[in-house]
Amino acid sequence: MCGIIGYAGTEEACPILLDGLERLEYRGYDSTGLALFTKDGGLLRLRAAGRLSALRRCVTQRLEQGADLHGNAGLGHTRWATHGAPTKENAHPHRSQEGKYTVVHNGIIENYAKLRGELEAAGIRFASQTDTEVIAHLLEQLDTGNPLETLRRALPRLEGSYALGVLYHAQPGTLYCARRQSPLLAASCVRGVLLASDAAAILPFTRTMFRLEDGEMAQLHANGAIFFFDAQGRALQKAATEIARHTTAADKGGYVHFMRKEIAEQPECLARTLAPLLSGGEIHLGESEAALENPGGIRRVLFLGCGSAHHAGITGRMLVEELSGIPASAELASEFRSAATAVDRHTLAVIISQSGETADSLQALRLAKEKGARTLSVINVEGSSIAAESGSVLYTRAGLEVAVATTKAYSAQLAALCALAARLGALRGQDPARLRDFVRSLAALPELAREVLADTEATAHAWAQELQSVQHAYFLGRNLDYATAMESALKLKEISYIHAEAYAAGELKHGTLSLIEPGTPVVALCCRPEVIPKTLGNAQEALARGAKLFCVTNRQNPLPERCLTLPPCHPLLVASLAVLPMQLLAYHCADLRGCDVDKPRSLAKSVTVE
Ligand code: F6R
Repeated sequence: MCGIIGYAGTEEACPILLDGLERLEYRGYDSTGLALFTKDGGLLRLRAAGRLSALRRCVTQRLEQGADLHGNAGLGHTRWATHGAPTKENAHPHRSQEGKYTVVHNGIIENYAKLRGELEAAGIRFASQTDTEVIAHLLEQLDTGNPLETLRRALPRLEGSYALGVLYHAQPGTLYCARRQSPLLAASCVRGVLLASDAAAILPFTRTMFRLEDGEMAQLHANGAIFFFDAQGRALQKAATEIARHTTAADKGGYVHFMRKEIAEQPECLARTLAPLLSGGEIHLGESEAALENPGGIRRVLFLGCGSAHHAGITGRMLVEELSGIPASAELASEFRSAATAVDRHTLAVIISQSGETADSLQALRLAKEKGARTLSVINVEGSSIAAESGSVLYTRAGLEVAVATTKAYSAQLAALCALAARLGALRGQDPARLRDFVRSLAALPELAREVLADTEATAHAWAQELQSVQHAYFLGRNLDYATAMESALKLKEISYIHAEAYAAGELKHGTLSLIEPGTPVVALCCRPEVIPKTLGNAQEALARGAKLFCVTNRQNPLPERCLTLPPCHPLLVASLAVLPMQLLAYHCADLRGCDVDKPRSLAKSVTVE
């Protein structure tokens, strides 16, 4: 969560920091700030509550007032509030009392209250409610005159997670940084050095970057030199990582919102994801095959992820069990960490993450490895932390996803999981004809997705007009349709702020049916052929209580109500198609309600706090 950008070099730092923040804003967007070493050796700090546009206005005002914002080094930060409201006072960078240290931070300092108490007892006055401010004061309290040595002494006192960018008042051309559990990258380019929480901010300058590992620190000089150190302060040699350029540009391509553009891109994303995995009517996972060696030794597949990635995992569980016969389960990464889930060397743990940086998923990966599992990650962002630490990586090729609510990356995850399930089935000697039939249908998925998007747009918009003013909505489904119901409900609530719940259709009558009253919207997903009759029965029960029923199905008019009909497809691919009109429905509801579709309140694209 939160975005960090740092620059030192020969160029004007202020525009570089502002542009970097623009590219990082998806990580958090409730307040922003920057600190700049000015030409006269001063350290200027500008902060603003709200979006980056507020900080840009603040910069413009300062310039109009004649302020000198020329300078060649500084740090910028875009915040997703954890401790303290999203106000200017709580916006980063934070400064120590005498101004020796200026700090930006991603993560959470878990013992900040204790540290704050100690620092206050020592006479320090705090200017914010953040956990970050303790770091600035602690550094000043322990200052040795050598910021690296000071960091080495201070960091062991911090509990929790951090990616830290630090400026020292007496060294205007130098950036310091340190990492524990929150991602941080350093790079040099012809014009200086860069520091960022995310490759997206660095890519305009260079594709070669260094990933800091937990416990590492770095010193970055304006002349392009970068020195790395371990937690004891010993010099380290690090290998650089080469990042492929994003295949999709971060522009809206004529659409009003990134989300709408990303929904439209799904057929190409599916094709790109599947192309390297399909050959001669069979699936081959390339380098990821390493995770499937000795397939007889895999006794369980465990899917781990958060939010939509968890919904992809639930779908993956069903696909793996159907196509390979291997017992499978899906757990929320955050819950897995505190559960005593049986995992051993016979477990294949599949971590699903678009960003590859989600803190809970990263920790779940580490725990699964610790317990002896083989690990395979399904990741969209190359070079991300989860990709770097996984045994094997199966990349989804959705391209850069900018909208906070995932659409194309989710679809690409489902496609990758279809391929994984089919490959496991083949390795476990499942019926080749059945698998061939599935793989053939999978290859045709991108075209079917194109058809569905074109054919359902108008209906999704019409439904959104009916739904835009409701307060609650329910999504029902069984089996694969239940996974789609969960994803559909999440999509609707996160961007339109309509309360939405998903129910396994058979569960409604075990309590929730009492909430269905005349006019309550119920969306019934009836696509998996084997369960359609039963789901329709449950939809009728809701209808009998006055529900306003919406039905997504691949049968011709199974209900007298509003029906959105999908083309026939392989029964195991229904989740990939049914989710498309549900994304459109959520999008249009949010748009009609005037919500900020691409940046819903309180959310962030990359969730790097636990
Ligand atoms: C919902 C959404 C989130 C993410 C979740 C995991 O639209 O995007 O629920 O799926 O935060 O993120 P990643 O996939 O980056 O690990």
